[in-house]
Amino acid sequence: MGRLSKSNFLSALCCLCLNLGVVAVDTIRSSQFIKDKNSDYMISNGSVFKLGFFSPVNSTNRYLGIWYNNISAFTVVWVANRQKPLNDSSGVLTISEDGNLVVLNGQKEILWSSNVNNSIANSNAQFLALGNLVLKENTTGTILWESFNNPSHIMLPEMKLSTNERTGEKVQLTSWKSPSDPSIGSFSGGIHRRSLIQAFVWKDGRPYFRSGPWNGQKFIGSPRYPPFHDIISLVQDQDGTTYLTSSLLSHSSHFVLTTQGNTEARYWDSEEGDWKVVWKAMNSVCDVYGTCGAFGSCNSTSSPICSCLEGFKPKNTEEWNRQNWTSGCVRKTPLQCGRVNSGEAGKMDVFLKLMMMKVPDFVEWSAAREEDCGQQCLQNCSCIAYAFDSGPGCMTWTRSLIDTQKISYGTGVDLHIRVAHLELDTEGDVRKIITITVIIGTIFISIFTYLLWRWMAKHKARRKKAEGMLNREAHKKFPSEDMLGDNLNQVKVQELPLFDFVKLASATNNFHESNKLGQGGFGPVYRGKLSDAQEIAIKRLSKTSGQGLEEFMNEVVVISKLQHRNLVRLLGCCAEGEERMLIYEYMPNKSLDAFLFDSPKEILLDWRKRFNIIEGIGRGLLYLHRDSRLRIIHRDLKASNILLDKDLNPKISDFGMARIFRCNEDQANTNRVVGTYGYMSPEYAMEGRFSEKSDVFSFGVLLLEILSGRRNSSFYHDEQSMSLLEHAWKLWKADNIVALIDPMISEPCYEMEVLRCIHVGLLCVQEFAKDRPTTSTVISMLKSEIVDLPHPKKPAFTERQIGLDTESSKLSQRKCSVNNVTITMVQGR
Ligand SMILES: *[C@@H]1O[C@H](CO)[C@@H](O)[C@H](O)[C@H]1NC(C)=O
Ligand SMILES: *[C@@H]1O[C@H](CO)[C@@H](O)[C@H](O)[C@H]1NC(C)=O
Ligand SMILES: *[C@@H]1O[C@H](CO)[C@@H](O)[C@H](O)[C@H]1NC(C)=O
Ligand SMILES: *[C@@H]1O[C@H](CO)[C@@H](O)[C@H](O)[C@H]1NC(C)=O
Ligand SMILES: *[C@@H]1O[C@H](CO)[C@@H](O)[C@H](O)[C@H]1NC(C)=O
Ligand SMILES: *[C@@H]1O[C@H](CO)[C@@H](O)[C@H](O)[C@H]1NC(C)=O
Ligand SMILES: *[C@@H]1O[C@H](CO)[C@@H](O)[C@H](O)[C@H]1NC(C)=O
Ligand SMILES: *[C@@H]1O[C@H](CO)[C@@H](O)[C@H](O)[C@H]1NC(C)=O
Ligand SMILES: *[C@@H]1O[C@H](CO)[C@@H](O)[C@H](O)[C@H]1NC(C)=O
Repeated sequence: MGRLSKSNFLSALCCLCLNLGVVAVDTIRSSQFIKDKNSDYMISNGSVFKLGFFSPVNSTNRYLGIWYNNISAFTVVWVANRQKPLNDSSGVLTISEDGNLVVLNGQKEILWSSNVNNSIANSNAQFLALGNLVLKENTTGTILWESFNNPSHIMLPEMKLSTNERTGEKVQLTSWKSPSDPSIGSFSGGIHRRSLIQAFVWKDGRPYFRSGPWNGQKFIGSPRYPPFHDIISLVQDQDGTTYLTSSLLSHSSHFVLTTQGNTEARYWDSEEGDWKVVWKAMNSVCDVYGTCGAFGSCNSTSSPICSCLEGFKPKNTEEWNRQNWTSGCVRKTPLQCGRVNSGEAGKMDVFLKLMMMKVPDFVEWSAAREEDCGQQCLQNCSCIAYAFDSGPGCMTWTRSLIDTQKISYGTGVDLHIRVAHLELDTEGDVRKIITITVIIGTIFISIFTYLLWRWMAKHKARRKKAEGMLNREAHKKFPSEDMLGDNLNQVKVQELPLFDFVKLASATNNFHESNKLGQGGFGPVYRGKLSDAQEIAIKRLSKTSGQGLEEFMNEVVVISKLQHRNLVRLLGCCAEGEERMLIYEYMPNKSLDAFLFDSPKEILLDWRKRFNIIEGIGRGLLYLHRDSRLRIIHRDLKASNILLDKDLNPKISDFGMARIFRCNEDQANTNRVVGTYGYMSPEYAMEGRFSEKSDVFSFGVLLLEILSGRRNSSFYHDEQSMSLLEHAWKLWKADNIVALIDPMISEPCYEMEVLRCIHVGLLCVQEFAKDRPTTSTVISMLKSEIVDLPHPKKPAFTERQIGLDTESSKLSQRKCSVNNVTITMVQGR
């Protein structure tokens, strides 16, 4: 950058040559000046921004400000003396004796000051590349003040808005009064934290626009900014200050708080030579805070725009009809909750589910898990609504519900509002209401599933009789477009976060081959990195895979209900156009089979680690079978479906084949046997019967693999043509089971433990399901809570098995005409 030479001579010279911009500098020190009279200016490092004196359009007032240097439309981004304009060109920017940056007028009066308590009168001001003017202590370089912390109406990239509710300190935008008057207008914009963080625009201090709570990736219920992916982020530091920052795509883009109170994202379109607004916070009157009052809901395309939430009616009908919404709505029927012994009318309150909502203001956060969120709300009479989003988790409301809106874009969540049970009957419009008291909801779903399953089974059986051809039949099973619609609604039911396709594409470098982790049941799996550095694994459904879609939906339905440290966590899904993707937490250590069988990594798996893995898988399985609210049979437990996190903790994955059981259901039949050869119990492989015990069988095989360090399938090519189970059984009979132990772990001190595990493994793979222990017994046995283990009977599959070569491929066989439906849930529309 140029060097400032502010000698008297030069300024005199410049007075002569009048309006020639004299010196382009990016730093001034005390006793140096930027004078309006001389048309002095500073240029930021990089030349993008310019600092100097200006007059707004249609105004003769002079202000010190910052604007874009290389953009043809004069655009001011920051103003210093906005409250005290100069009426002539006598203005000067300098560093005063107390070390502050000041704007003085011709009478040497201070019109504006950086106002720092700065005892060290030794500072300089530097104009940084991003448009930030900073005042620094000369020797230490400590930043005493910066324009980024004292913004005007524009938020430049890398600038931070912040709030600290404890100290009350905040950095906010403030609107101009008008395009020709930069003085502070009615609107201010920033973030506010109460339980969760929301962005606000305030009008004269009162909420005017509200973003909805931040869920870690987006504001729930706010329009997204299509061309600006992942530009907003929020962080909190140790002092409790929360910052909102944006990293826009280029230097010539920013957010602006307009004189009308809207917030716009815009960028400079150099071809058209104009600013392009790409995103607006407010797009209709419905985005004005609380337009429809308490318990009201706004839809700008309907007429009238305001309606009451279901179960509510206008507080003042006459006012409401005059389109005065201020009084809002009130309950039609009082809640049961809190009323003691009110006789036979005492049916429990219920929740009405409103889909895709911008949630109300005054959210409170609760630590409850998804499955407990509704229940917890139901049990607390002051809780009148809840919603769950995987980011913040369980959200509840206790006050009147204000600023609620049904939205059509993809950032809303399902809001469950508490109403009296009576509302269910009076409402009558079952199509719109999805009634879930949380416990009943589960039962309802299960029964519905069962009925549907039965119905489909009958239906298909009939149809199948009519058609003879297997192939065509198989084709028919592919979900139709209609089903797809339903399926997507299911996704909504799961309250599963939706990911942008574009975001995922950019996270995986457009699904680049180098990011491919492997091939899952229904398509490739990619590794990706979100903009916040979170690593994810993405399962992408192959477009050609018809069966895959079923498995995909099944996985969504099953796993989104589950949460356990030994189950892989589903973060969300993506359903855009033809794309169907599932997004999981990324497991750096890949799958157990890779670790176990592919040396040299196996060296890392000592006995302790292996036992930890065995225990973890057992716990995960127990959760599936017993501890979760649902009973789930995985049906495809195998080494490649056990993923390992960075600490080598196991997580069960791939729920594409999983089935949800009703509470009293122990066993089910299917005609489509899908699983992995070698891990399937005989009754499942042969007769399609599956139960908890068929998973126990697979677990047993897994156990023997882990302990022997050999793939079950590796025996296929052996000269003896034995299976791992047969091999183990022979050694057991010969009283030489020690020989099965993987040499890597055969240390004498662990031998007893290892042998015990092998024993348990053999019990799990016994031929008859009734002989096999239950999952909880298996766990007790492993933990030596059960000391005397029974003698194992002969395992299944001791004979040479049917000739199908499968490392991990799936055996699919069809037998009789009973149908197999893996979609387990349907929702009325
Ligand atoms: C401008 O910024 C660059 C890096 O951002 C830095 O290397 C350079 O020294 C700066 N120039 C001046 C004159 O400060
Ligand atoms: C202004 O200059 C910066 C830095 O050279 C450049 O990145 C930016 O694109 C320029 N803007 C326009 C509108 O030319
Ligand atoms: C400036 O004044 C002219 C004439 O009164 C008017 O047409 C124009 O809209 C004004 N511009 C702004 C930005 O206010
Ligand atoms: C300009 O403002 C000064 C005070 O800052 C005032 O004394 C002076 O009269 C004003 N001049 C005009 C022409 O309005
Ligand atoms: C500035 O310093 C004075 C004296 O040390 C103190 O009384 C005052 O509160 C300080 N002001 C600020 C804004 O820190
Ligand atoms: C600040 O430090 C610079 C050197 O870094 C020096 O040239 C300048 O004179 C100092 N200013 C004051 C006011 O001490
Ligand atoms: C708003 O109302 C219109 C007309 O009644 C309806 O078509 C539309 O689906 C509604 N929008 C939302 C988000 O519910
Ligand atoms: C709307 O109703 C409120 C509350 O009853 C009242 O204070 C207000 O004046 C009304 N507004 C209009 C425009 O009638
Ligand atoms: C009910 O909810 C309110 C508000 O969240 C909370 O203050 C209160 O402690 C809760 N009561 C119980 C019994 O959990």
